[in-house]
Amino acid sequence: MPTIAVFNQKGGVGKTTTSLNLAAALALLRRNPVGIDLDPQGHFSLACGLQRVSDERSMSAFFARGTPLQSLLQSLPSGLRLIPAALSLSKIDALHGHDPQIAGRLKAGLCVFPGTGVPVLIDCCPMLSVLTLNALVAAERVLIPVSADYLSLQGVHRLSAALDVLEKKLGRRFERRVVVTRFDARRRIAFDVYDRLQQHFGAEVCNTRIAENVSLAESPLHGKHIFEFAPQSPGARDYRALAQELLAAGFFDSVTTAPQPIGVAA
Ligand SMILES: Nc1ncnc2c1ncn2[C@@H]1O[C@H](COP(=O)(O)OP(=O)(O)O)[C@@H](O)[C@H]1O
Ligand SMILES: [Mg+2]
Repeated sequence: MPTIAVFNQKGGVGKTTTSLNLAAALALLRRNPVGIDLDPQGHFSLACGLQRVSDERSMSAFFARGTPLQSLLQSLPSGLRLIPAALSLSKIDALHGHDPQIAGRLKAGLCVFPGTGVPVLIDCCPMLSVLTLNALVAAERVLIPVSADYLSLQGVHRLSAALDVLEKKLGRRFERRVVVTRFDARRRIAFDVYDRLQQHFGAEVCNTRIAENVSLAESPLHGKHIFEFAPQSPGARDYRALAQELLAAGFFDSVTTAPQPIGVAA
């Protein structure tokens, strides 16, 4: 199955908003995606309306007790399918960080679930932890939300360098896409950030920009994705367009060829 890590080590750039609403857009397009909340803060779960997630029904159970991912999956009334997070996920680093096999656990779990062609979107926490390493080892592709401000722009270069190092260690390339979020067309800095990203990352930058939109900020309070909360909003328009752009680019297709080793020309 195509597994996508939604990652940026900077917080507040729109990882969770993107995981939620991109998964919702894919669900509406009948791609039946699975979301995985891999952030101990559990914002993805909260934004889906899951207020109190017990350890036994969360990703903590997968890492701590080996509970199969399938039995942790919740099908929500909104049409989304999610494996939620609980705060105890923050202990995984301390409890299992010494285990040399730990980084491959999620990849192994996803080998038997959820099946061919089902896109899996992993909402990562904002640091390079054991959890994030699990997401990146499991993922063939990385979606990097970057908010349209100067500090976010600086952070993405560091992130890109960190991914380069990881690629060398894993001996394969990640297909990457950068999506600009919180784009405020009234601000020159927003266009500046977008242009600079295009200069550096070229075609890896999505054409679709996610506008700063109050409905996107409000919908998690109601435990709803944007297509339930404000289907006519600019936020809904943008996440629908992002899903369509990425689908057209094959970003959610199954990876059929062996990942290309580093150093081998295409
Ligand atoms: N396009 C947007 N317009 C308005 N608010 C946004 C937008 N994207 C994200 N937000 C808000 O910004 C904050 C951080 O977003 P979030 O997705 O939680 O970032 P991250 O997961 O990277 O920490 C949240 O309060 C969210 O509602
Ligand atoms: Mg988040």
